Amino acid sequence: MPAIAVIGAQWGDEGKGKVVDYLAARAKMVVRFSGGNNAGHTVINQYGEFRLHLVPSGIFYPNLTSIIGNGVVVDPGALLDELEGVRQGGVDIGSLYISDRANLVMPYHWLLDGLEEESRGKGSLGTTRKGVGPAYVDKAARLGIRAGDLLDPAAFRQRLSLILEQKNAIISAVYHSPTMSLDEIYDEYCAHGEKLAPHIRHTEPLMAETLSKGEMVLLEGAQGALLDVDFGTYPYVTSSSPMVGGACTGAGISPRYISGIIGVFKAYPTRVGVGPMPTLIEGETQDMVREHAHEYGATTGRPRRCGWFDGVAAAYVSQLNGFSAIAVTRLDVLDVLPNIKICRAYQCNGERLEHFPASLSVLEQCQPIYEEIPGWLTSTSEARHWDDLPHQAQAYVQCVEEVAGCPVAVVSVGPRREQTILRSPLL
Ligand code: IMP
Repeated sequence: MPAIAVIGAQWGDEGKGKVVDYLAARAKMVVRFSGGNNAGHTVINQYGEFRLHLVPSGIFYPNLTSIIGNGVVVDPGALLDELEGVRQGGVDIGSLYISDRANLVMPYHWLLDGLEEESRGKGSLGTTRKGVGPAYVDKAARLGIRAGDLLDPAAFRQRLSLILEQKNAIISAVYHSPTMSLDEIYDEYCAHGEKLAPHIRHTEPLMAETLSKGEMVLLEGAQGALLDVDFGTYPYVTSSSPMVGGACTGAGISPRYISGIIGVFKAYPTRVGVGPMPTLIEGETQDMVREHAHEYGATTGRPRRCGWFDGVAAAYVSQLNGFSAIAVTRLDVLDVLPNIKICRAYQCNGERLEHFPASLSVLEQCQPIYEEIPGWLTSTSEARHWDDLPHQAQAYVQCVEEVAGCPVAVVSVGPRREQTILRSPLL
């Protein structure tokens, strides 16, 4: 069996975890390939309730191997806390592996994330302040420390000492902040390294072996395509690639093995942090949606902005990723709305625009051109088959499918596993 990628198609928080959970029952391995503990989702299952930030959702399946790939930036302290929570819930964490090539989030990354955000003043990016951006900067600058480095304390100390000298120079000269202690960081990270050592290894051969046996590998995306560092609403983006291309480089897998690319769209997009969102819902309706759906960030607790479905962005993301199927999540949230809008194009400087613009200043001037469709004003949360949905809800999903240019295979109508409508086979 091949590899299947599950990709967030908006600004994150689309409900990818539920789709991964659904597919995990048939998979042998789940690989997280990008981002860090800036991501977050809540998982409720027979073991309890967990907030996962770094650990792949596959950890809850006893027969699955879970991998944190080379493309993830790992905060080892945060990972250990998360693993402890999962372990205390009675879950076996023995089959979790971390790529020895994964870069680490270091204490100076947290500090610099905060200092950089404050120095940007009104132009702040609204980062999660988890040090993720600065960790990716160091990776590209070839100043990163990788998980495998923790396995050789002497070499780790030498490298840390070189890097910290540079970081301290910036921290004191640019930000006039107190410098950081080499010994403290070294001791803390050596202790983390000792605990994580059984999990750190070459992960690419494990994946290759699974694929060669014909078993399924799930590539679990974090964040969403509109936060992609190349194709998102730059500079209001994250620092990695949450798209299918990022899955290849962030997991160490050839595109040849990826036979399914599932785009996960929430029935209404949300955005946390700063940056443009052309289809923002105006006024009280947005508050109603946010409260009804409890749209607050799982990592930072910040309120999420809620929008109408953006067909221009959806077509763009769908084409870039080559989605083979779409999952639409949280359709039930729209049950309470008498009218629902869907954006078909933008109006910009007197012109109709059907392509998602690269320029932020153009995007900021874009006014959505909406099609309004009547709501269904009835609960969909008990629907289990396509035919159980009211015809207005079916029409809405068909509209999503048309603007995104890809078939909707799955519709989710609630958080529970059984609240899932499989309209056509996902694989
Ligand atoms: P960073 O990834 O912490 O540098 O934050 C950059 C931007 O990405 C900010 O707007 C964050 O709110 C957003 N972001 C990062 N991770 C997530 C996520 O998992 N869900 C939603 N937004 C995210």
